Amino acid sequence: MHATDVIARKRDGETLTTDEIMWFIEGVTNGAIPDYQVAAWLMAVCIRGCRTGETVDLAMAMAHSGEILDLSGVVDFAVDKHSSGGVGDKTTLVVLPLVVACGVPVGKMSGRGLGFSGGTLDKMESIAGYRSDLSTEAFLSQLKTHGIVLSGQSADLAPADGMLYALRDVTSTVRSTPLIASSIMSKKLAAGANGIVLDVKAGTGAFMGEVSAARTLAELMIGIGRDAGRKMVALISDMNQPLGAAVGNALEVREAIDVLRGGGPADLRDALPHRGRAHAAPGRHSERPGAAGPDAHDGGEAAERRGAGAFPPAGGTSGGDVRMVDDPDRLPQATIVETIAAPARGYVKRVEARAVGIASKVLGAGREKKGDPIDHAVGVVAHCKVGDAVAAGDPLFTVHANDAARLDEAKSRLSRAITLSEAPVAPLPLFYDMLEAI
Ligand code: URA
Repeated sequence: MHATDVIARKRDGETLTTDEIMWFIEGVTNGAIPDYQVAAWLMAVCIRGCRTGETVDLAMAMAHSGEILDLSGVVDFAVDKHSSGGVGDKTTLVVLPLVVACGVPVGKMSGRGLGFSGGTLDKMESIAGYRSDLSTEAFLSQLKTHGIVLSGQSADLAPADGMLYALRDVTSTVRSTPLIASSIMSKKLAAGANGIVLDVKAGTGAFMGEVSAARTLAELMIGIGRDAGRKMVALISDMNQPLGAAVGNALEVREAIDVLRGGGPADLRDALPHRGRAHAAPGRHSERPGAAGPDAHDGGEAAERRGAGAFPPAGGTSGGDVRMVDDPDRLPQATIVETIAAPARGYVKRVEARAVGIASKVLGAGREKKGDPIDHAVGVVAHCKVGDAVAAGDPLFTVHANDAARLDEAKSRLSRAITLSEAPVAPLPLFYDMLEAI
């Protein structure tokens, strides 16, 4: 086979065979196909799309590019979660410790920032020394010892996703239903959890703008997981405005710690009972005796137990400096902090999540080119939500920067990201739907 033929067939809208997809992903993984051909193929997939069968083949080929973990000898029933990507989405950092505190082991494989959206691994790497490339052995040992592990794609686990992901981030090929579905599901299948909870975002700060598109993505991923024998739950949640207030790596870690200590923004806290129920669902329906699915999640008890959980495994095999978790003032901090104030009184009609995500990226929280270093300290804190009343001079955003030119560009983007209205505005919902295959 030739990479040029596979690229051309996808460019022309043809359906790739299972063999072609397996061959291509193998070539990505072993380096036989260079980045420029992979990038061309990604753009062809992005523009032409894939049939369901091709997406399933892609997810399976990517999952099998490394090991598929078998957790049966390690824990009775493990749950994993994944978000389809959003702005200010630090849900993992808050929900994982709560789920673990309720007795459900969590083995999770996360990703980095993609486009305007943040990535859990980049956030966790705000904690000095944190390692996101655990070997299979280290992943399993951390899960067994601490009941919680959070790592990224590695040479052992879903390496093809790691390679495609880094290229997609810098070639504007993120927003593609088959590429998102196969990327997420390859990691979930490789990490071996029995139950998988998907948080599929819809809105301006998501890759799926409309709820209907988010539902299509959710159904596709549920089908892939169900056919692979996993119990699946998908939440469809709003991403028209940033989730919580903080957007940017260390700022989000600090906010997650605040929530776990009983504070933090109301929308993050208010979503916890619903998220807790979603995480309990796959375990509750498990046929395994003693498999976790703690009813403690019901009725928001998980939120009440928030103090009980350890922060996602900053320490242990992951090697992070847990003093930064105990004392978040030790996290990286920006040198310039400026506020954007409301020019007039009014009701907040729009806080455009994508514009806030791009402003944070402009400040240095995300990558322009593959392998670019990121600045963990910078980002934006959004002080209001759609529906809030503000007075003239109230803070709308606080910008954390390390570079004056980047600060100016971010401020100009942020001042266009918000709209005030004279008439009252209804708040946005947190969730639209929950789908299950359990
Ligand atoms: N998260 C992933 O892991 N992959 C995507 O493509 C989008 C979100």
